[in-house]
Order: sequence, then C-alpha cells, then structure tokens
Amino acid sequence: MDIQKELIRVTAEYFEDNIDYQKLATASKEYGQLLNELCGQNMAVEDGRSNIELDNGEALGTYWAALCLEDLWRTRQFIRGINEVIKEKRSAQKPIHLLYAGSGPFATLILPFLVRYSKQEIKYTLLEINPFSYQLVQNVIAKLGLDELDITFVNADTTQYKIDPTNKPDIIVSETMQNALAKEPQVPIFLNLMRQVKNDSIFIPEKIELYVGLKKSGIPNEELQAKHFHKEAKVVEVSKEAMFSAGHSEKRTSYTLQFPKKQTIIENEKLNGFDCLVLITEIQVYKNEGIGINRSGLTTPIIMEPISSNLKGSITIDTQYKISSDPKLEYTITMSATV
Ligand SMILES: C[S@@+](CC[C@H](N)C(=O)[O-])C[C@H]1O[C@@H](n2cnc3c(N)ncnc32)[C@H](O)[C@@H]1O
Repeated sequence: MDIQKELIRVTAEYFEDNIDYQKLATASKEYGQLLNELCGQNMAVEDGRSNIELDNGEALGTYWAALCLEDLWRTRQFIRGINEVIKEKRSAQKPIHLLYAGSGPFATLILPFLVRYSKQEIKYTLLEINPFSYQLVQNVIAKLGLDELDITFVNADTTQYKIDPTNKPDIIVSETMQNALAKEPQVPIFLNLMRQVKNDSIFIPEKIELYVGLKKSGIPNEELQAKHFHKEAKVVEVSKEAMFSAGHSEKRTSYTLQFPKKQTIIENEKLNGFDCLVLITEIQVYKNEGIGINRSGLTTPIIMEPISSNLKGSITIDTQYKISSDPKLEYTITMSATV
C-alpha cells in the first residue's frame, strides 16, 4: 500500500464543501486507525495518560492528545481553515513557513498538508512539550516517508519559545484549548507568539470569543442546539486585533497580560424563558470556517448558575480571564433577592 496516497484518500472528506456526516465519521475513523497503525505504540500507558502541569496551564498527555482527532467538527474545521490560509499565502518565490504549536503524537491538523505540498511550497516547525508525543510525531512522519520535507521538530514549551527573527512563521496553528479557554495554555501560547511575529502572520484559530449568555428552559440536554442559547455580552476575545487593543494592559516585552474586567447586567425582563446563565465559546478558525456553539467539545456551553423563576431583579456578572496554572474565566454572579 502507498501510505501517502492512502492518507490523501482518507483525509479527502475534510476538504469536501458538502457535509455528509456519515462520510465524515468514516473519514475520522479511518484517519485515526491509520495514525494508530503508523504510530505502533500503546499510548494508554501511565506515561501516555499523564498531563504535564505548567505555570500557565496543562499540556495533555499523549493518549488524550491523540484522541482529539475524534472531535469530528473540530478536526474538519481546523483542516479547512488551514487549507484556506495556505491557498492564500502560497507564493512561487519561496516556501511559506507554518509553525504548529502542540503537535501531539500525530500532528493531526497538518498531516493532510504534509502529503499534499512539496518542500518548495511549505516548510514546517513542529513544537511539542510532551517528550512522548514529541518522539511519536517524529516516528509517524518518518514512517510516512516524508523525510525529504523541510520539518524542524522542537521539544519545547511554546509559552516561552523564542522565534528565530530570521525565520518568522507566516502561519501559526495551535489547538491547545478546551471550552471556555479553561485548563490548557492556548492563550499564553498565542500571546507569546503574537509578540514575536510579523503583522501579516495568520493565527489559526483567528478568533476565539467567550460570551456570557442564557440557556432556554425546558430543553433536554441531549437536544440542545445553538438556537437554544442567547449570547448576552462578549467577555473575552483572543485574536491578534483584540490582544493588543487599548483595553488590555499589555506590554510587548512582558510575559503577562492583564485581561480587562467586564461587568454584564441582565435585566429581569430579558430572563423570561431562560433557566440558566451560561458561558458560551465560539471559534473563528479562519474567515468562514468556524466552530459554532455546541458543534464540538471546544464550544460546549458551560452552566454558570441556574436562574430561579422567582427572581425579581437583575443579574450582575463580573468577569475577568486569568492566566495561571489553572487558566480560566473567573466570575462572580450577584442575583437580586427572590420572593
Ligand atoms: C489538545 S492537544 C492537540 C493535539 C493535536 N495538535 C490535535 O489538534 O489533534 C494539545 C497538544 O499541545 C501540547 N502542548 C500543550 N501546551 C504546550 C506548550 N506550552 N508547548 C508545547 N506544546 C504544548 C500538548 O502536549 C498536546 O500534545
């Protein structure tokens, strides 16, 4: 079997504009099987299951990082967003430089491009903090017979990584997040890299937004869809534009960023028909390729607080995103007295 051709075949469904969930599920299963065979290692061992605790978040263990592939919509949308930006950035003059922060053991989100573009078209830097994943991703790429490509593997913490100023990336890809930007270090990774790159470098995802919102009453959990959630106010935006805007007390030389405190007040008359305060995540991967509410584990809304039907007054929610060993949106909720 020509393994590169097989990889092109199994990943072709991600590039199809028409959505066929059955075919997508098959593609995801075949892609996972192929990668597990190439990897040839049992990742469900203690080493593979251990996350790495950092000062600014948690890096997933190899076994868990490999499983991210199975989040169908996430994997499809990231691959499509990367495809769009590669098509835009391609040039006949020199290869574009793609930096992938947190490759995991399979480099899942960029492997389809490794078998579709030549060394003259794209060069890659793959960063991974977890030594087990770092070893496995090199094995997988070697077994695919892709040694002729220009790929630099780096075993490093991307939140501290210094980009070579003579070799700046054009595209930066990282999926190191969970819903509500909790636990994993997506934000410090992007912050560190955003400070060092050219203005026209593209970050994938391009924009991640958190909203305080409301969930409709009486819908069983398994039936919840985007239309059952109402976004009341945006409380965090992670994008190149927002990170360096006036609201953030940011110094380009410092390693910390103070996110603005936000206060959201929801008047009582707006609460009719809703039973919970929720924290909503939306992701713009690139331009029209996004991950809407509840389409992926990354955008599953989080219940902040049930709302009593007896509530007579308004609700005040104070929020601030904080980077720490357990990064998250910190919040306090004040509800007016109930009868
Ligand atoms: C959620 S997994 C995603 C794996 C794969 N990129 C995918 O999308 O399927 C995140 C990966 O990023 C790595 N990672 C997390 N924090 C990191 C950091 N600060 N520097 C480098 N790699 C990191 C983790 O070890 C893990 O392999």
